[in-house]
Amino acid sequence: MSVREKRDSIVCTSAIVIVIVAELILFSASTVRAGGQDGASAKATFQAKCAMCHGPDGAGSEVGKSMKVPDLRSEAIQKMPDAELAKTISEGKGGMPPFKSSLSEAQIHALVRYVRSLRQKK
Ligand code: HEC
Repeated sequence: MSVREKRDSIVCTSAIVIVIVAELILFSASTVRAGGQDGASAKATFQAKCAMCHGPDGAGSEVGKSMKVPDLRSEAIQKMPDAELAKTISEGKGGMPPFKSSLSEAQIHALVRYVRSLRQKK
């Protein structure tokens, strides 16, 4: 290998290393965010565990409507205190199943905030 070739391969290798390191940093940053309680992960939880009854926007799916789920965007729900919404999500109510064994307290609180964010815009 000539000196020039060696230098080129070092440049090339360090470029790859930089890309990998940058990728790792980005990846761990997004994992931390997903593990946090921010809106994006609550939204994903809602889509995965709640939307089958409450619909993707909280209005109620076909299944949900047949069970008479309330419109989560409505004043009636938005007027209820956080603690009550959290209790319903954790312990269930009527046709609503309890989620305390499948969701952490932090996830339940993030969901309450997510339900708040669905509030109908006037
Ligand atoms: C199997 C269908 C079903 C699923 C899944 C479901 N719900 Fe419900 N939900 C209901 C029904 C039915 C009600 C109405 C309960 C009542 O008032 O008797 C309800 C009520 C609610 C209310 C109103 C609060 C209250 O105290 O009346 C909130 C908030 C809510 N659900 C949030 C959620 C969230 C968040 C999830 C996901 C973690 C979820 N639901 C999953 C069926 C469901």
